[in-house]
Amino acid sequence: MKRVVCAAIALASAASTPAGAQGALNLYCSVQVEWCQAIATNFQRDTGIRVSMTQRGSGENLAAIRAEAQNPRADVWFGGTGDPHLAAAEENLTQDYESPNSAQLQPWALTQWRQSNRRAVGVYAGAIGFGFNTELLGRKNIASPRCWADLVDPRFKGEVQLANPNSSGTSYVIIATLVQLMGEDQAFTYLRQLHPNVNAYARAGTGPIKAVARGETAVSLSFVHDAVVERNAGFPVDYATPCEGTGFEIGSMSILRGARNLAQARRFYDWALTADVQRLGYDVGRQLQTPSNRATPLPPNAPDLTRIKLIDYDFARYGRSAERRRLIERWDRDVGSLPR
Ligand code: F6P
Repeated sequence: MKRVVCAAIALASAASTPAGAQGALNLYCSVQVEWCQAIATNFQRDTGIRVSMTQRGSGENLAAIRAEAQNPRADVWFGGTGDPHLAAAEENLTQDYESPNSAQLQPWALTQWRQSNRRAVGVYAGAIGFGFNTELLGRKNIASPRCWADLVDPRFKGEVQLANPNSSGTSYVIIATLVQLMGEDQAFTYLRQLHPNVNAYARAGTGPIKAVARGETAVSLSFVHDAVVERNAGFPVDYATPCEGTGFEIGSMSILRGARNLAQARRFYDWALTADVQRLGYDVGRQLQTPSNRATPLPPNAPDLTRIKLIDYDFARYGRSAERRRLIERWDRDVGSLPR
């Protein structure tokens, strides 16, 4: 798998840090880069702890953490879909921790924590759906998709984009959702039928909705909160959630096994669960998920998960390392290798 570091930002040198004695933190981050930068900058300002941040997709960060297991480079992994955090917990790549702030969290955030043997905690939640460029669809006179069944219609030939599940946690949630909705063989038949309608499998989960915003593709399979990010930025983007039901993520945070800066990692973990910090991504226009701190309000215009037809996503099963690996390998074999 190609592992590309798309942003590695050493935020300050030791000399310029006011309280250099506070030490350092190496952060792997799997939310949008502007949000990653905001948490790194604010944590450094609040604590004097020097932060070195690397942003990558959920699958890419899991691959890096696996490769570095004998000599971990990162202390904390912030954000990204919940399944790879569960896989990392199962593979003993992360360690257990109970934050004094966990009492402030939504029940689903703590379900993730218990399911991972206290190694991954929920920081936000969001649902899968369709993002689309309303101007482009209007110009082409194509009705927007409302159901999974619509997306394989020939009217969408070459108009759809989604991400590659090897690098993107979003794409893995999509596959696991279809398997849970249709049964595995039917889900892969569906993905093969969808293939002629797909113009590209992007590296990052947010790649397709950014392409929708730029008018490069009419439709994306995305987390719907990321469609609102683009709409709020002024692009002609709207979204729908599938009529048959859809899957969702519990975006998570984990402390790595063997973290060299454990005290700083725990301090970051506690800090990231507080109500104020859970709106930092919104302040930079990149966080429209449902926050896990109960005191942090749902951002204006954010998708309301209680109004979306969600499946009872089986996190225990689809977060299992072997299951994740098996489904991604099947996707590579049955779908990713098909001619274009
Ligand atoms: O920050 C946007 C976001 O959609 C998160 O909600 C999600 O956890 C993450 O991106 C997944 O990114 P990727 O699909 O690249 O792993």
